[in-house]
Amino acid sequence: MSLIEVRALTKTYRQAVRQPGLRGAFRHLVHQRYTERVAVDHIDMSIERGETVAYVGPNGAGKSTTIKMLTGILVPTSGEITVDGIVPHKRRMENARRIGVVFGQRTQLWWDIPVIETLSLLRDIHEMPAQEYRKNLDFLTELLGLDEFMHLTARRISLGQRMRADLAAAFLHSPAIVYLDEPTIGLDIAVKERIRGFIKQVNRELGTTVMLTTHDLGDIQDLCRRIVIIDHGRIIFDGALAEMTDAFARERVLHFQLRTPCPTAEQELQRIPNVTVSGLSDTELSVRFDRAFISARDITGAIMQIADVSDFRIDEPSIDHVIKRVYDGTLNLAVRKGGGA
Ligand SMILES: Nc1ncnc2c1ncn2[C@@H]1O[C@H](COP(=O)(O)OP(=O)(O)OP(=O)(O)O)[C@@H](O)[C@H]1O
Ligand SMILES: [Mg+2]
Repeated sequence: MSLIEVRALTKTYRQAVRQPGLRGAFRHLVHQRYTERVAVDHIDMSIERGETVAYVGPNGAGKSTTIKMLTGILVPTSGEITVDGIVPHKRRMENARRIGVVFGQRTQLWWDIPVIETLSLLRDIHEMPAQEYRKNLDFLTELLGLDEFMHLTARRISLGQRMRADLAAAFLHSPAIVYLDEPTIGLDIAVKERIRGFIKQVNRELGTTVMLTTHDLGDIQDLCRRIVIIDHGRIIFDGALAEMTDAFARERVLHFQLRTPCPTAEQELQRIPNVTVSGLSDTELSVRFDRAFISARDITGAIMQIADVSDFRIDEPSIDHVIKRVYDGTLNLAVRKGGGA
């Protein structure tokens, strides 16, 4: 059995529908009307111990709702979840001992007490032995640079410091699993890199399982081998990051630099099926092609016959580009549903 098992998991929110104005408010008191919104719609997922999984999708896709069900904060409408053999919302305390959570949008620190006091309160809540607390605190202090602000109250620290403190709070009790919901939101690049480095190191050294929700593609590229994409509450892709780019990002662009101008090159190349050629200047040509139909080698061979090529390079689409197209609906991943990393 996998560490996290999710079967047909569904969450429907009931939203009150109210007509505008006073009359609407009265009418609502008498005849309450509701609509149902399916935020998570029959998702299946298995996560193994030690994995780092990126859980991504456009705004409103259902990511936070899934995380809240996994942590036991929300009760599913239907479907099943087991995390390390237990059902999170039925055994919340037991589940809480094994997991760490960061909601980047909202701090879990006590606002009016120094960060270090929050950590020692958490030590008591988790009933941590003094020695383990000391060891973990030293480790976290070093990796996250807590020294510079641990004696300040959460109210007075910067966003980047707050996120580092939140991470320390989430990892303090050596949880087997951490759920990070947008842990780098709003942070500058230096802090982001520090946080990514931290997550990588913890995953590598302690084998912590990480489920990460983010809109920052750098986070995904840097941290996750597996990516799960959710849209309108449904999982539309689950697989290795490399597999996604291989399977769906077939478009490539070859850029050629010519030693001497070759006015006919553009027309000649345009005759090859499935390529689009654009001349940028007398001595520069770009050839866009789908590698399912033609190889870079064939194109390079063809141009070498007619022009004097001094240099060339190939551009591959970025993950950024692929995911954006999935969100736009211009790339249909529905066929790729299922299957782990
Ligand atoms: N408490 C709630 N009551 C009613 N509807 C909700 C509630 N929480 C979320 N929703 C709705 O459920 C859907 C999924 O929301 P969720 O917060 O899970 O999305 P998300 O993928 O985390 O988005 P984002 O990237 O913006 O954080 C949205 O349409 C949202 O409006
Ligand atoms: Mg969210």
